Amino acid sequence: MPGFEWIDESEAKAVQEVFEEGGVLFAHGWDNARKKYHVREFESNISKAFDVNYSRAVTSGTAALKCALKAIGVKKGSKVVTQAFNFIAVIEAIIDCGAHPIICGVDDNLDLDINDLNKIYDDNEDISAIILVHMLGIGGPIEEVVSFCKENDIKLVEDNCESIGATYKGKNLGSFGDCGVISFDHGKMITCGEGGMILTNSEKIHKYVVSYSDHGHAYQEGIPRGLDKKSMPGFNYRLTELQAAVGKAQLDKLNLILESNKRRFNALNSILEKHFRVRKLRQHQTGSYDTFIFFVKTIEERSKCVQLMKEHQIPTKNLPDAMEWHCTYFFEHALPKNEIESSKETYNKLNLSIAIGILRSIEVERYENLAYDLVRNI
Ligand SMILES: Cc1ncc(COP(=O)(O)O)c(C=O)c1O
Repeated sequence: MPGFEWIDESEAKAVQEVFEEGGVLFAHGWDNARKKYHVREFESNISKAFDVNYSRAVTSGTAALKCALKAIGVKKGSKVVTQAFNFIAVIEAIIDCGAHPIICGVDDNLDLDINDLNKIYDDNEDISAIILVHMLGIGGPIEEVVSFCKENDIKLVEDNCESIGATYKGKNLGSFGDCGVISFDHGKMITCGEGGMILTNSEKIHKYVVSYSDHGHAYQEGIPRGLDKKSMPGFNYRLTELQAAVGKAQLDKLNLILESNKRRFNALNSILEKHFRVRKLRQHQTGSYDTFIFFVKTIEERSKCVQLMKEHQIPTKNLPDAMEWHCTYFFEHALPKNEIESSKETYNKLNLSIAIGILRSIEVERYENLAYDLVRNI
């Protein structure tokens, strides 16, 4: 469920405090005019929550992806593999670095298909990086992809924008790769309107993203910003203090959000899994449970399901309603023809998938009623 459903007086109070503490909205400097550095605190709280050494806040998940790619050395002409079920931002970030996206299919669970990844590698031994996207609350094959990257000396970025709080073997997704990326846009599990974070255990990567996301500032100790050295040509992807204040308040609610999601997800699962094939969590994995996906056999069945969901006033999430933004088969404005064609199989799989959005405003009982109705009618 999106964090916006949890916004209450705690976020309002957090924002009010920024003004009471001096009203400095910028993340850096003005040391005497402020009592706190909210962006820094937000970064440090995220590092603790996700058990990583470093986090850098930026303006969006898309910006975080781009910073991460640049930090691991992706440049003009590099090849970056990602899966055909993603969000357009992943492709945009690759292209914005001047790199070439190579599209890997998904398996029957809608996760990156390791067999296809191996086939792609046979033809492209010069792959620089993989972006593994943990889509809609369920993690991809992280253990397999980590070993693949180690074996073949390929960098790994985990896009965890859609699976915040999900784990594998007790470790947070987003903390396995060279870097992980999360988003705080309005639809995400925790939100500050817009925002993103790059998580890493590497000091070198962290230093790069800190500098790149702030005009190349070298952050020399004890030197005022105006006299600071430039370590590279960078850009401005800085988060504001107001966003960070809201982000901190939202992060405090993450466990509650996860628990509420899980109750609704499990209610749907216990009824629907007996009748439909459903998207599964892998062994040793926990999800963020904010979307429940099941599969039908025909487009007619899909239409009937969507109609029933409408009648129950329970929304679909991305599948099928926003598939055009989440399947590379539709990205003809951004990808070469061969990558569109290779995405066809993924499109066919997504076409028979239905994603139920998990919302706080919809009680468990209403999800159960929908599930029984789906079972009765399909
Ligand atoms: C998988 C994935 N990656 C990246 C992004 C980009 O995040 P943002 O909207 O913060 O730029 C999104 C946002 O929808 C996403 O779902």
